[in-house]
Amino acid sequence: MRKALIAANWKMYKTPAQAKEFVATFLPLVTGHTRDEIVLCPSATSLSAVVDAVAGSNVRVGGQNIHTADEGAFTGENSAVMLVALGVSHIIIGHSERRQYFGETDELVNQKTHQALKHGLKPIVCVGELLAEREGGKTQEVLLRQTEIAFKGITAEQAANIVIAYEPVWAIGTGKTATPEMAAEAHLVIRTEVARLLGREVADNIRILYGGSVKPDNATALLNQPEIDGALVGGASLDAVSFSKIVRY
Ligand code: 13P
Repeated sequence: MRKALIAANWKMYKTPAQAKEFVATFLPLVTGHTRDEIVLCPSATSLSAVVDAVAGSNVRVGGQNIHTADEGAFTGENSAVMLVALGVSHIIIGHSERRQYFGETDELVNQKTHQALKHGLKPIVCVGELLAEREGGKTQEVLLRQTEIAFKGITAEQAANIVIAYEPVWAIGTGKTATPEMAAEAHLVIRTEVARLLGREVADNIRILYGGSVKPDNATALLNQPEIDGALVGGASLDAVSFSKIVRY
């Protein structure tokens, strides 16, 4: 049985004060909720505030991006070492917005995944096709390529700490959700590829989250699919009540 993981990706929203306000409202709504793992991923400037605010609770904290180096002359970047020092446990890697707007390649996603694991951060590795790729019948090919390269050099033991997020780019922030069947089909493609790369046992245990316009009113249908092991939520995670409803799908 794979324990579901429900993660909030706040993207570039919320000041530290707003982040603390969210946590103050959110924690009482999920107290004692042990069925799913809960992770909040604020922007780098709010990580410290959120780590402090959730201390002692069932909520963990993730970053949204790291550099591939431990330290160095890389203006504007943050390292895995720095995030770990703050008390961060998870890291989103290769989100489609990083791929689209910041030029992240499959190879860079692989390097960042290795870097995260080296420092004990749990990577949430994002994959997903563009609208043109889906319409061009290339979904499977894209998912296979992204998954294979992301896992290059990763051992079965390391894979136990990796979570994959399937986020079809056309469903992100658009209000268009993949149907539960479409998402399950994509998840099966990804899981089969993980089995090919690392064996059946790793594939059976790895969690694959769905992301893309997950809302309180569609969360249950998506998360009840046996292939879907959680959600990575953008817009609907910015409001504490709305996100708590998704957590309690
Ligand atoms: P939305 O939930 O706003 O579509 O965003 C999804 C996402 O990108 C989560 O990482």
